[in-house]
Amino acid sequence: MTAFYRHFVKPILFQSDPEMAHDWTLRILHKLSQNAHLLATFETFYQASPLPIQVEGLHFPNPVGLAAGMDKNAKALPAWPSLGFGFVELGGVTYHAQPGNPKPRMFRLPSDLGVINRMGFNNNGALATVQQLEEWKKTGGWPKVPVALNLGKSKITPLESAPEEYAKLVHCFWRWADFFIVNVSSPNTPELRKLQGAQAIDHVLSAIDEEVTACRAAHPTLPTRPIWVKVDPDLSNPELDALMEVCGRHSVQGIVATNTTTWRPQHPSDSTYSQTGGLSGAPLRERSSEVIRWIHQRSQGKLKIIGVGGIMTARDAWEKIGAGACLLQVYSGLVFKGPTLVQELVAGLSNQVCLHGLKSLDQAVGKGLPFLAEED
Ligand SMILES: Cc1cc2nc3c(=O)[nH]c(=O)nc-3n(C[C@H](O)[C@H](O)[C@H](O)COP(=O)(O)O)c2cc1C
Repeated sequence: MTAFYRHFVKPILFQSDPEMAHDWTLRILHKLSQNAHLLATFETFYQASPLPIQVEGLHFPNPVGLAAGMDKNAKALPAWPSLGFGFVELGGVTYHAQPGNPKPRMFRLPSDLGVINRMGFNNNGALATVQQLEEWKKTGGWPKVPVALNLGKSKITPLESAPEEYAKLVHCFWRWADFFIVNVSSPNTPELRKLQGAQAIDHVLSAIDEEVTACRAAHPTLPTRPIWVKVDPDLSNPELDALMEVCGRHSVQGIVATNTTTWRPQHPSDSTYSQTGGLSGAPLRERSSEVIRWIHQRSQGKLKIIGVGGIMTARDAWEKIGAGACLLQVYSGLVFKGPTLVQELVAGLSNQVCLHGLKSLDQAVGKGLPFLAEED
Protein backbone atom coordinates (compact mmCIF):
# COMPACT_ATOMS: atom_id res chain seq x y z
CA MET A 1 0.00 0.00 0.00
CA THR A 2 2.94 2.33 0.68
CA ALA A 3 4.19 1.93 -2.90
CA PHE A 4 0.63 2.41 -4.19
CA TYR A 5 0.33 5.78 -2.40
CA ARG A 6 3.80 6.97 -3.42
CA HIS A 7 3.63 5.93 -7.06
CA PHE A 8 -0.06 6.46 -7.93
CA VAL A 9 -2.01 8.57 -5.40
CA LYS A 10 0.63 11.11 -4.36
CA PRO A 11 1.64 12.18 -7.90
CA ILE A 12 -2.03 12.93 -8.66
CA LEU A 13 -2.58 14.79 -5.38
CA PHE A 14 0.66 16.75 -5.74
CA GLN A 15 -0.34 17.97 -9.21
CA SER A 16 -3.25 19.86 -7.70
CA ASP A 17 -3.42 22.79 -5.33
CA PRO A 18 -2.76 21.52 -1.76
CA GLU A 19 -6.13 22.66 -0.40
CA MET A 20 -7.98 21.10 -3.35
CA ALA A 21 -6.12 17.84 -2.77
CA HIS A 22 -7.06 18.01 0.92
CA ASP A 23 -10.74 18.71 0.18
CA TRP A 24 -10.84 15.91 -2.40
CA THR A 25 -9.34 13.45 0.10
CA LEU A 26 -11.82 14.53 2.79
CA ARG A 27 -14.76 14.09 0.40
CA ILE A 28 -13.64 10.53 -0.37
CA LEU A 29 -13.14 9.76 3.33
CA HIS A 30 -16.60 11.26 4.07
CA LYS A 31 -18.19 8.87 1.54
CA LEU A 32 -16.14 5.99 2.91
CA SER A 33 -17.34 6.87 6.42
CA GLN A 34 -20.92 6.13 5.36
CA ASN A 35 -20.16 2.56 4.27
CA ALA A 36 -19.36 0.06 7.02
CA HIS A 37 -18.19 -2.62 4.53
CA LEU A 38 -15.70 -0.30 2.86
CA LEU A 39 -14.47 0.85 6.25
CA ALA A 40 -13.87 -2.76 7.25
CA THR A 41 -11.91 -3.36 4.03
CA PHE A 42 -9.77 -0.30 4.67
CA GLU A 43 -9.16 -1.56 8.18
CA THR A 44 -7.72 -4.82 6.91
CA PHE A 45 -5.11 -2.84 4.92
CA TYR A 46 -4.31 -0.06 7.35
CA GLN A 47 -4.88 -1.50 10.82
CA ALA A 48 -2.01 -0.74 13.19
CA SER A 49 -0.72 -3.37 15.56
CA PRO A 50 -1.89 -2.89 19.16
CA LEU A 51 0.34 -0.70 21.33
CA PRO A 52 -2.08 0.30 24.06
CA ILE A 53 -1.52 3.17 26.41
CA GLN A 54 -3.68 4.47 29.22
CA VAL A 55 -3.66 8.21 29.86
CA GLU A 56 -5.52 9.37 32.96
CA GLY A 57 -8.40 6.94 32.57
CA LEU A 58 -8.68 7.00 28.78
CA HIS A 59 -7.67 3.94 26.80
CA PHE A 60 -5.76 4.47 23.54
CA PRO A 61 -5.27 1.35 21.34
CA ASN A 62 -2.09 2.97 20.05
CA PRO A 63 -0.45 6.36 20.70
CA VAL A 64 -0.62 7.81 17.17
CA GLY A 65 -3.46 10.29 16.64
CA LEU A 66 -4.71 12.56 13.90
CA ALA A 67 -3.63 16.18 14.50
CA ALA A 68 -6.04 19.12 14.45
CA GLY A 69 -6.79 20.85 11.18
CA MET A 70 -7.17 17.79 8.98
CA ASP A 71 -10.86 17.15 9.75
CA LYS A 72 -12.14 20.53 10.93
CA ASN A 73 -15.84 19.70 10.49
CA ALA A 74 -15.81 16.05 11.62
CA LYS A 75 -16.73 14.94 8.09
CA ALA A 76 -14.64 11.77 8.13
CA LEU A 77 -14.71 10.78 11.80
CA PRO A 78 -15.46 7.06 11.26
CA ALA A 79 -12.68 6.73 8.67
CA TRP A 80 -9.69 7.74 10.82
CA PRO A 81 -9.55 4.66 13.08
CA SER A 82 -9.85 2.52 9.92
CA LEU A 83 -6.60 4.13 8.79
CA GLY A 84 -5.00 2.93 12.02
CA PHE A 85 -5.24 6.04 14.22
CA GLY A 86 -5.36 5.43 17.97
CA PHE A 87 -7.27 8.69 18.57
CA VAL A 88 -8.69 11.59 16.59
CA GLU A 89 -8.57 15.35 17.18
CA LEU A 90 -11.35 17.16 15.31
CA GLY A 91 -11.44 20.89 14.54
CA GLY A 92 -10.28 23.60 15.10
CA VAL A 93 -13.86 24.53 15.69
CA THR A 94 -14.94 28.08 16.48
CA TYR A 95 -18.34 29.00 17.85
CA HIS A 96 -19.25 30.97 14.72
CA ALA A 97 -18.96 29.50 11.23
CA GLN A 98 -16.26 31.37 9.30
CA PRO A 99 -14.64 31.18 5.86
CA GLY A 100 -11.00 31.62 6.97
CA ASN A 101 -8.38 33.59 5.04
CA PRO A 102 -8.45 34.20 1.27
CA LYS A 103 -7.05 31.38 -0.93
CA PRO A 104 -4.40 30.23 -1.69
CA ARG A 105 -3.55 29.58 1.93
CA MET A 106 -1.81 26.20 2.02
CA PHE A 107 1.60 25.53 0.43
CA ARG A 108 3.85 22.48 0.16
CA LEU A 109 7.64 22.43 0.53
CA PRO A 110 8.24 19.03 -1.10
CA SER A 111 12.03 18.95 -0.88
CA ASP A 112 11.97 19.78 2.86
CA LEU A 113 8.80 17.77 3.74
CA GLY A 114 7.19 20.95 5.05
CA VAL A 115 3.83 22.69 4.79
CA ILE A 116 2.95 26.37 5.31
CA ASN A 117 -0.66 27.23 6.04
CA ARG A 118 -2.63 30.34 6.89
CA MET A 119 -6.08 28.75 6.83
CA GLY A 120 -7.44 30.99 9.62
CA PHE A 121 -9.84 28.50 11.26
CA ASN A 122 -12.09 27.98 8.25
CA ASN A 123 -14.89 25.81 9.65
CA ASN A 124 -18.64 25.30 9.70
CA GLY A 125 -19.02 26.48 13.31
CA ALA A 126 -19.90 24.64 16.51
CA LEU A 127 -23.58 23.97 15.85
CA ALA A 128 -23.00 22.39 12.42
CA THR A 129 -20.23 20.21 13.86
CA VAL A 130 -22.46 19.08 16.72
CA GLN A 131 -25.06 18.08 14.10
CA GLN A 132 -22.43 16.10 12.19
CA LEU A 133 -21.35 14.33 15.40
CA GLU A 134 -25.00 13.51 16.22
CA GLU A 135 -25.30 12.03 12.75
CA TRP A 136 -22.30 9.74 13.26
CA LYS A 137 -23.68 8.62 16.62
CA LYS A 138 -27.13 7.88 15.10
CA THR A 139 -25.79 5.97 12.10
CA GLY A 140 -23.42 3.83 14.16
CA GLY A 141 -20.28 5.50 12.77
CA TRP A 142 -18.92 6.58 16.16
CA PRO A 143 -15.34 5.33 16.56
CA LYS A 144 -14.06 3.12 19.37
CA VAL A 145 -10.99 5.34 19.86
CA PRO A 146 -10.93 8.55 21.96
CA VAL A 147 -12.15 11.69 20.19
CA ALA A 148 -10.82 15.16 21.07
CA LEU A 149 -12.18 18.54 20.01
CA ASN A 150 -9.78 21.39 19.16
CA LEU A 151 -11.37 24.66 20.27
CA GLY A 152 -10.52 28.03 18.71
CA LYS A 153 -11.64 31.65 18.93
CA SER A 154 -13.78 33.11 16.13
CA LYS A 155 -12.19 36.00 14.25
CA ILE A 156 -15.16 38.27 15.09
CA THR A 157 -14.86 37.58 18.84
CA PRO A 158 -12.77 40.27 20.56
CA LEU A 159 -9.82 38.96 22.54
CA GLU A 160 -11.37 39.98 25.87
CA SER A 161 -14.45 37.83 25.11
CA ALA A 162 -12.35 34.75 24.29
CA PRO A 163 -12.87 33.11 27.73
CA GLU A 164 -16.66 33.08 27.16
CA GLU A 165 -16.28 31.63 23.67
CA TYR A 166 -14.06 28.75 24.88
CA ALA A 167 -16.53 28.05 27.70
CA LYS A 168 -19.44 28.02 25.22
CA LEU A 169 -17.57 25.55 23.05
CA VAL A 170 -16.96 23.24 26.03
CA HIS A 171 -20.70 23.43 26.74
CA CYS A 172 -21.64 22.59 23.11
CA PHE A 173 -19.30 19.60 22.82
CA TRP A 174 -19.48 18.15 26.35
CA ARG A 175 -21.57 15.17 25.28
CA TRP A 176 -19.31 14.42 22.31
CA ALA A 177 -15.67 14.97 23.15
CA ASP A 178 -13.59 12.61 25.29
CA PHE A 179 -11.23 15.51 25.89
CA PHE A 180 -10.71 19.11 24.81
CA ILE A 181 -7.72 20.91 23.37
CA VAL A 182 -7.73 24.66 24.01
CA ASN A 183 -6.01 26.12 20.99
CA VAL A 184 -4.41 29.46 21.85
CA SER A 185 -1.44 28.94 19.55
CA SER A 186 -2.55 29.15 15.92
CA PRO A 187 -0.56 31.91 14.17
CA ASN A 188 -3.36 32.58 11.69
CA THR A 189 -5.98 34.29 13.87
CA PRO A 190 -4.89 37.84 14.72
CA GLU A 191 -3.71 38.12 18.35
CA LEU A 192 -4.75 34.57 19.29
CA ARG A 193 -1.27 33.76 20.59
CA LYS A 194 -1.60 36.60 23.13
CA LEU A 195 -3.96 34.25 24.99
CA GLN A 196 -0.88 32.21 26.00
CA GLY A 197 0.21 35.06 28.30
CA ALA A 198 -0.14 34.23 32.01
CA GLN A 199 -3.04 36.56 32.76
CA ALA A 200 -4.94 35.85 29.54
CA ILE A 201 -4.69 32.05 29.81
CA ASP A 202 -5.68 32.32 33.47
CA HIS A 203 -8.96 34.01 32.40
CA VAL A 204 -9.60 31.45 29.67
CA LEU A 205 -8.97 28.50 32.00
CA SER A 206 -11.08 30.02 34.81
CA ALA A 207 -14.05 30.33 32.42
CA ILE A 208 -13.51 26.75 31.24
CA ASP A 209 -13.21 25.45 34.84
CA GLU A 210 -16.58 27.01 35.66
CA GLU A 211 -18.17 25.48 32.57
CA VAL A 212 -16.66 22.07 33.37
CA THR A 213 -18.21 22.20 36.85
CA ALA A 214 -21.60 23.11 35.35
CA CYS A 215 -21.41 20.37 32.68
CA ARG A 216 -20.40 17.73 35.24
CA ALA A 217 -23.41 18.67 37.36
CA ALA A 218 -25.73 18.62 34.33
CA HIS A 219 -24.42 15.24 33.04
CA PRO A 220 -23.53 13.24 36.15
CA THR A 221 -23.46 9.92 34.26
CA LEU A 222 -20.84 11.07 31.76
CA PRO A 223 -17.15 10.90 32.59
CA THR A 224 -15.42 14.25 32.96
CA ARG A 225 -13.70 15.72 29.92
CA PRO A 226 -10.04 16.56 30.54
CA ILE A 227 -8.65 19.88 29.31
CA TRP A 228 -5.39 20.14 27.38
CA VAL A 229 -3.73 23.35 26.15
CA LYS A 230 -1.97 23.53 22.76
CA VAL A 231 1.15 25.72 22.69
CA ASP A 232 3.21 27.31 19.95
CA PRO A 233 6.87 26.48 19.36
CA ASP A 234 7.89 30.13 19.22
CA LEU A 235 7.43 30.72 22.97
CA SER A 236 10.61 31.26 24.97
CA ASN A 237 11.39 28.95 27.90
CA PRO A 238 10.37 31.60 30.50
CA GLU A 239 7.08 32.07 28.62
CA LEU A 240 6.52 28.32 28.68
CA ASP A 241 7.29 28.26 32.42
CA ALA A 242 4.74 31.00 33.09
CA LEU A 243 2.10 29.18 31.04
CA MET A 244 2.79 25.88 32.82
CA GLU A 245 2.51 27.56 36.19
CA VAL A 246 -1.00 28.79 35.32
CA CYS A 247 -1.97 25.39 33.88
CA GLY A 248 -0.86 23.83 37.17
CA ARG A 249 -3.31 26.06 39.07
CA HIS A 250 -6.22 24.91 36.89
CA SER A 251 -7.37 21.41 36.15
CA VAL A 252 -5.28 21.12 32.96
CA GLN A 253 -4.27 17.53 32.28
CA GLY A 254 -1.69 18.16 29.62
CA ILE A 255 -0.07 20.16 26.87
CA VAL A 256 -0.17 19.57 23.13
CA ALA A 257 3.27 20.56 21.85
CA THR A 258 3.35 22.05 19.33
CA ASN A 259 1.34 24.05 16.85
CA THR A 260 3.00 25.40 13.67
CA THR A 261 5.88 27.91 13.75
CA THR A 262 6.32 31.39 12.27
CA TRP A 263 10.10 30.76 12.25
CA ARG A 264 11.83 30.38 8.87
CA PRO A 265 15.27 28.93 8.01
CA GLN A 266 18.07 31.49 7.59
CA HIS A 267 18.98 30.18 4.16
CA PRO A 268 15.69 28.98 2.69
CA SER A 269 15.99 26.34 0.00
CA ASP A 270 12.60 27.24 -1.50
CA SER A 271 10.93 30.60 -2.28
CA THR A 272 7.69 29.23 -0.74
CA TYR A 273 9.24 29.91 2.68
CA SER A 274 8.37 33.58 2.11
CA GLN A 275 4.65 32.75 2.42
CA THR A 276 3.01 34.05 5.60
CA GLY A 277 1.60 31.40 7.93
CA GLY A 278 2.51 28.51 10.18
CA LEU A 279 5.25 26.11 9.12
CA SER A 280 4.80 22.41 9.91
CA GLY A 281 6.45 19.13 8.96
CA ALA A 282 10.13 18.17 9.07
CA PRO A 283 11.48 21.76 9.56
CA LEU A 284 9.48 21.94 12.82
CA ARG A 285 10.59 18.60 14.25
CA GLU A 286 13.57 19.64 16.30
CA ARG A 287 11.99 22.71 17.94
CA SER A 288 8.81 20.82 18.78
CA SER A 289 10.88 18.09 20.47
CA GLU A 290 12.80 20.75 22.46
CA VAL A 291 9.52 22.22 23.73
CA ILE A 292 8.31 18.74 24.74
CA ARG A 293 11.58 18.04 26.60
CA TRP A 294 11.36 21.37 28.42
CA ILE A 295 7.75 20.89 29.52
CA HIS A 296 8.39 17.31 30.64
CA GLN A 297 11.46 18.24 32.66
CA ARG A 298 10.09 21.43 34.21
CA SER A 299 6.77 19.82 35.19
CA GLN A 300 8.64 16.71 36.41
CA GLY A 301 6.37 14.62 34.24
CA LYS A 302 3.22 15.93 35.93
CA LEU A 303 1.84 17.53 32.77
CA LYS A 304 1.04 14.89 30.16
CA ILE A 305 2.23 15.76 26.66
CA ILE A 306 0.88 15.05 23.19
CA GLY A 307 3.90 15.41 20.90
CA VAL A 308 3.27 16.79 17.42
CA GLY A 309 5.52 18.44 14.87
CA GLY A 310 7.47 16.89 12.01
CA ILE A 311 6.93 13.20 12.70
CA MET A 312 7.82 11.47 9.43
CA THR A 313 9.47 8.25 10.63
CA ALA A 314 9.47 5.86 13.60
CA ARG A 315 12.77 7.45 14.64
CA ASP A 316 11.06 10.87 14.87
CA ALA A 317 8.20 9.32 16.86
CA TRP A 318 10.65 7.65 19.27
CA GLU A 319 12.48 10.98 19.72
CA LYS A 320 9.24 12.61 20.89
CA ILE A 321 8.43 9.75 23.29
CA GLY A 322 11.97 10.01 24.69
CA ALA A 323 11.53 13.77 25.10
CA GLY A 324 8.43 13.24 27.25
CA ALA A 325 5.36 12.78 25.02
CA CYS A 326 3.00 9.95 25.96
CA LEU A 327 0.83 10.40 22.86
CA LEU A 328 1.71 11.60 19.34
CA GLN A 329 -0.03 13.20 16.40
CA VAL A 330 0.67 13.65 12.71
CA TYR A 331 -0.55 15.98 10.00
CA SER A 332 2.18 16.90 7.47
CA GLY A 333 3.61 13.37 7.57
CA LEU A 334 0.34 12.10 6.13
CA VAL A 335 0.65 14.51 3.20
CA PHE A 336 4.10 13.27 2.25
CA LYS A 337 4.04 9.64 3.36
CA GLY A 338 0.38 8.67 2.98
CA PRO A 339 -1.86 6.74 5.35
CA THR A 340 0.50 3.77 5.87
CA LEU A 341 2.57 6.16 8.00
CA VAL A 342 0.42 5.35 11.04
CA GLN A 343 1.07 1.59 10.77
CA GLU A 344 4.74 2.27 10.18
CA LEU A 345 5.05 4.50 13.26
CA VAL A 346 3.18 2.13 15.56
CA ALA A 347 5.20 -0.88 14.34
CA GLY A 348 8.44 1.09 14.76
CA LEU A 349 7.56 2.15 18.31
CA SER A 350 6.55 -1.42 19.21
CA ASN A 351 9.86 -2.61 17.91
CA GLN A 352 11.78 -0.09 20.05
CA VAL A 353 9.81 -1.16 23.15
CA CYS A 354 10.83 -4.75 22.39
CA LEU A 355 14.49 -3.99 21.58
CA HIS A 356 14.87 -2.02 24.83
CA GLY A 357 13.28 -4.90 26.78
CA LEU A 358 10.44 -2.70 28.09
CA LYS A 359 7.02 -3.99 29.08
CA SER A 360 5.09 -1.06 27.62
CA LEU A 361 5.54 2.22 25.80
CA ASP A 362 4.94 4.37 28.86
CA GLN A 363 8.18 3.04 30.34
CA ALA A 364 10.01 4.94 27.57
CA VAL A 365 8.29 8.30 28.10
CA GLY A 366 10.87 11.01 28.91
CA LYS A 367 13.76 8.53 29.14
CA GLY A 368 15.58 9.74 26.02
CA LEU A 369 16.43 6.17 25.03
CA PRO A 370 18.36 5.83 21.76
CA PHE A 371 16.69 4.57 18.60
CA LEU A 372 18.05 1.05 18.19
CA ALA A 373 18.55 -0.67 14.87
CA GLU A 374 17.54 -4.38 14.75
CA GLU A 375 21.14 -5.61 14.99
CA ASP A 376 22.10 -3.32 17.98
C1 LIG B 1 -3.36 22.91 6.96
C2 LIG B 1 -3.21 22.85 8.45
C3 LIG B 1 -4.25 23.23 9.26
C4 LIG B 1 -4.11 23.20 10.66
N1 LIG B 1 -5.16 23.57 11.46
C5 LIG B 1 -5.03 23.50 12.80
C6 LIG B 1 -6.12 23.84 13.66
O1 LIG B 1 -7.22 24.15 13.20
N2 LIG B 1 -5.91 23.80 15.01
C7 LIG B 1 -4.70 23.43 15.55
O2 LIG B 1 -4.55 23.41 16.77
N3 LIG B 1 -3.67 23.07 14.76
C8 LIG B 1 -3.81 23.09 13.41
N4 LIG B 1 -2.76 22.73 12.61
C9 LIG B 1 -1.48 22.33 13.25
C10 LIG B 1 -1.35 20.80 13.37
O3 LIG B 1 -2.36 20.27 14.18
C11 LIG B 1 0.02 20.42 13.97
O4 LIG B 1 0.12 20.96 15.26
C12 LIG B 1 1.19 20.94 13.12
O5 LIG B 1 0.89 20.84 11.75
C13 LIG B 1 2.48 20.19 13.41
O6 LIG B 1 2.36 18.83 13.09
P1 LIG B 1 2.93 18.20 11.72
O7 LIG B 1 4.36 18.64 11.58
O8 LIG B 1 2.75 16.71 11.86
O9 LIG B 1 2.08 18.76 10.61
C14 LIG B 1 -2.88 22.75 11.22
C15 LIG B 1 -1.85 22.35 10.39
C16 LIG B 1 -1.98 22.38 9.02
C17 LIG B 1 -0.83 21.94 8.14
